[in-house]
Amino acid sequence: MKSTELFQSPFSGQPSRTTGGGRRSSLSIASDAFVFFSGAVAALLLVWTFSTFSNPQTTQPQPNPNLITHASNPKPEPKPFLPSVSDDVCAKNFDGLNFQQDPPDPNFYDDPTFGYTIDTKITNWDEKRKEWLKQHPSFGSGAEERVVMVSGSQSGPCTNPIGDHLLLRFYKNKVDYCRRHGYDIVYNQVLLHPQMHTFWAKIPAVRAVMLAHPEAEWIWWVDSDAAFTDMDFQLPLQRYKNHNFVVHGWPKLIYEKKSWTSLNAGVFLIRNSQWALDFMDVWSGMGPQTPNYEKWGEVLRETCKDKAFPESDDQTGLVYLLLKEKEKWGDKVYVEGEYYFEGYWLEIVETLDNITEKYNNIERGVRRLRRRHGEKVSESYGALWEEYLKDAGYGKFSWRRPFITHFTGCQPCSGKHNQMYSGQSCWDAMRKVLNFADNQVLRNYGFVHRDLLDSGSVSPLPFDYPA
Ligand SMILES: *[C@@H]1O[C@H](CO)[C@@H](O)[C@H](O)[C@H]1NC(C)=O
Repeated sequence: MKSTELFQSPFSGQPSRTTGGGRRSSLSIASDAFVFFSGAVAALLLVWTFSTFSNPQTTQPQPNPNLITHASNPKPEPKPFLPSVSDDVCAKNFDGLNFQQDPPDPNFYDDPTFGYTIDTKITNWDEKRKEWLKQHPSFGSGAEERVVMVSGSQSGPCTNPIGDHLLLRFYKNKVDYCRRHGYDIVYNQVLLHPQMHTFWAKIPAVRAVMLAHPEAEWIWWVDSDAAFTDMDFQLPLQRYKNHNFVVHGWPKLIYEKKSWTSLNAGVFLIRNSQWALDFMDVWSGMGPQTPNYEKWGEVLRETCKDKAFPESDDQTGLVYLLLKEKEKWGDKVYVEGEYYFEGYWLEIVETLDNITEKYNNIERGVRRLRRRHGEKVSESYGALWEEYLKDAGYGKFSWRRPFITHFTGCQPCSGKHNQMYSGQSCWDAMRKVLNFADNQVLRNYGFVHRDLLDSGSVSPLPFDYPA
């Protein structure tokens, strides 16, 4: 595994496919039938390996009240802006956070034994975080829902001639989502552990962000090749209140198929906690910085027979921990399969035209949704939209905008895409997906890409569009 795409998921992190036909056949197999088929026909297993896993849970999308109530239950109310008390106002941003004071009382940062590198043990992190929050009371309110997004890519230029352009667009997409929802974003372009390259690089990055952001409850890793394709959708954090780690996956495929693609480690939420530090210690114990790296490769291949390459990788490592240390970690891991916490681009890209039409039709009938508004209040419109998306469903086969579209196997930076599809189909799909997302942003700025494949052209939107 070359360290070209330093921060992304493994090359074939999503099961690759031979033909569209192979995929169709796997889609039509009902989830419960998986188990029977798998043992029976070896040939089918082969097709299976090369086909996309359908998501058994999203095939029958169910309305989730959490998703709807959460949208109308966002961050705390911003304090009113008082221009006459300029000093106080400058010291705080509009959410009432005080950026200008770090009390002199010692905290964990002052401890000389405290370190950011993954080989420095940290204990009592929950208490240390709590203590810091007590010292910085302005960060206390809303702390339980505070999210910091983290992504990253390699330190040098991409070898794919359009790779850096694509990464910039993916980054812009994340910035757009974060700005809309008031999240901070950290983009890392260095190996924080020199040996933890490729898909292992995210663990030391996430760990460092955790320690630098004691004010954040959740750290949200999003691969550089993943794009937000629903700018309104918000994480249903209430649903995860008893969990510390959230990953997209399918429990049946984890526990019955023991497949290395039963989940995708390219997007995850991890609670800023001692649990997370301990978990990442164990998880990174399978990484290339350890003397056991090769051994772990073998163990993981024995555990997940369909694993495509010999090196130990973070994704199979995660499956392994769920399978072998379920008692220790499993009850705090939420395997999210109900919506596109991340979704495979090939299954998503062909649905975007119909989704656009559906949303436009709804807007034509509802004046309130068409109303122009400032971007800062867009969350309230997201909540309003939910009323009209009740029948849309979630995930596969739904007509809701997919939350995150993940270009697994495309490798935009190195260009070394999976041979199952052409590079051109990857780059075209990225253009379409990124413009689809960009249209949701441009809407507040009065413009639209009429043609999703034409990144360079926009038209001004007439008043009351799309009436
Ligand atoms: C889009 O909608 C049309 C008309 O309802 C339908 O025939 C077509 O199969 C849909 N396309 C996709 C990719 O879902």
